[in-house]
Amino acid sequence: MTNSKLTDAPKLTAPKLTARNVDVFYGPKKAINNVSIEIDNGLVTAFIGPSGCGKSTFLRSLNRMNDTIADARVTGEILLDGEDIYAASMDPVALRARVGMVFQKPNPFPKSIYENIAYGPRIHGLAPSKADMDGIIESSLTKAGLWDEVKDRLNEPGTALSGGQQQRLCIARAIAVSPEVILMDEPCSALDPIATARIEELIDELKDTYAIVIVTHSMQQAARVSQRTAFFHLGNLVEYGDTSQIFTTPREEKTKDYITGRYG
Ligand SMILES: Nc1ncnc2c1ncn2[C@@H]1O[C@H](COP(=O)(O)OP(=O)(O)OP(=O)(O)O)[C@@H](O)[C@H]1O
Ligand SMILES: [Mg+2]
Repeated sequence: MTNSKLTDAPKLTAPKLTARNVDVFYGPKKAINNVSIEIDNGLVTAFIGPSGCGKSTFLRSLNRMNDTIADARVTGEILLDGEDIYAASMDPVALRARVGMVFQKPNPFPKSIYENIAYGPRIHGLAPSKADMDGIIESSLTKAGLWDEVKDRLNEPGTALSGGQQQRLCIARAIAVSPEVILMDEPCSALDPIATARIEELIDELKDTYAIVIVTHSMQQAARVSQRTAFFHLGNLVEYGDTSQIFTTPREEKTKDYITGRYG
């Protein structure tokens, strides 16, 4: 495949995530076909492509969320900092703290704002004292751009927040366990334009600290928030490159057809 290499420029840092020849099956059906890609730190990578092309399936393979789907099977190799995430020695729960996930529909637990964030650090033993936990709650909410709006109502239910606030709460929950990568599957699709803009700003701020991968249906959003774009079609990674290149001078005819709206 020609499309797994980004540019001819020498690489200064090792990739955060490396997928090599990854296939994903649901029962006998192959949903992802021989995908190889490198995902770097310090930037936002967007996955785009028509509905059903496998974006969510591939995203879930990056933190073993496919393990939770009964007949899903992943083959090939996925490395996090060079370490095989499907190795027997890898604890999937610990992995999902390192590679966090934010879903399409905000899904706060039916608990208080405070407890939504405290849950992860507690099960991972990150906060020995109440003061430690309070510190994690404040810093996570601050990084997610929500602290000022909720600091006086931490004991209210997370579900009482607006949709956009709930999504920022879910981002704070992912941040609370000090992840290295945050995977986002259409995180704005249930949000209005103002809440969407707020999340996009947040993604831009977070990318300096976490490698971010975002699945989006919106090519405008991919162009706004990402520095790299991967275009998927029928389970294949058709083209991967700098976002500006993908949107201005795609190499593949299929990419060009998609970004010019010929199908989707
Ligand atoms: N749990 C599942 N069991 C069986 N097949 C599945 C499952 N989830 C997804 N698929 C199939 O795998 C393929 C890829 O689906 P996936 O949800 O990854 O696509 P997508 O690109 O995220 O689409 P969308 O943009 O609509 O969210 C589709 O053919 C879909 O029907
Ligand atoms: Mg999807």
